[in-house]
Amino acid sequence: MNEHYPFINPPLPYSYDFMEPYIDAKTMELHHDRHLQTYVDNLNQLLKENPAYQGFSLEQLVLYAPSMPDDLKTPIRNNAGGVYNHLLYFSTLQGNSPQQPSGELGSLIRKQYGSYEAFEKQFTQAALSVFGSGYAWLVRKPDGSLTIRTTANQDTPLSFQTLPLICIDVWEHAYYLKHYNQRADYVKDWFAVADWEQAGRRFAS
Ligand SMILES: [Fe+2]
Repeated sequence: MNEHYPFINPPLPYSYDFMEPYIDAKTMELHHDRHLQTYVDNLNQLLKENPAYQGFSLEQLVLYAPSMPDDLKTPIRNNAGGVYNHLLYFSTLQGNSPQQPSGELGSLIRKQYGSYEAFEKQFTQAALSVFGSGYAWLVRKPDGSLTIRTTANQDTPLSFQTLPLICIDVWEHAYYLKHYNQRADYVKDWFAVADWEQAGRRFAS
């Protein structure tokens, strides 16, 4: 599924209200059914008009976008990135009870950052530092170590040879209905629904 064109918007693996009270149901619905759907539709339309790239995976589209013809570079970068980033965002949320990273990933976070709390503080600062729209990420570098990165708009950290483990979408569409312009409140709430088990599986993969 979603290996290449035509891409689909997979249904969320949980109900819209599963992240309540941290992320509201209406935001989840609009974010998934409208925002992500638009990226999927736009990407498919671009690929329909450019069949040479129909066999490319999402990752390949993101990585090869800079080498594409000038009229395709930016729209592919934005729309393939928009699909990739949102699929990762929605797949690393969980609405059960708040988690902390455990296992190999948890140990490495504590080793590199001193404590989970210190990591949370740094990640929060990164998420708040994004000017305008973008994401904050925890990624695994090629040497196996971790780093926190931010990206603007729909750029992805794949372009930096890193493996994204988890991300927070800090576009206003991700939080404005509930948190208004208070991104810090949203980031705090995001930590209550971050799926560290899934991030740990990605780290071990
Ligand atoms: Fe988003």
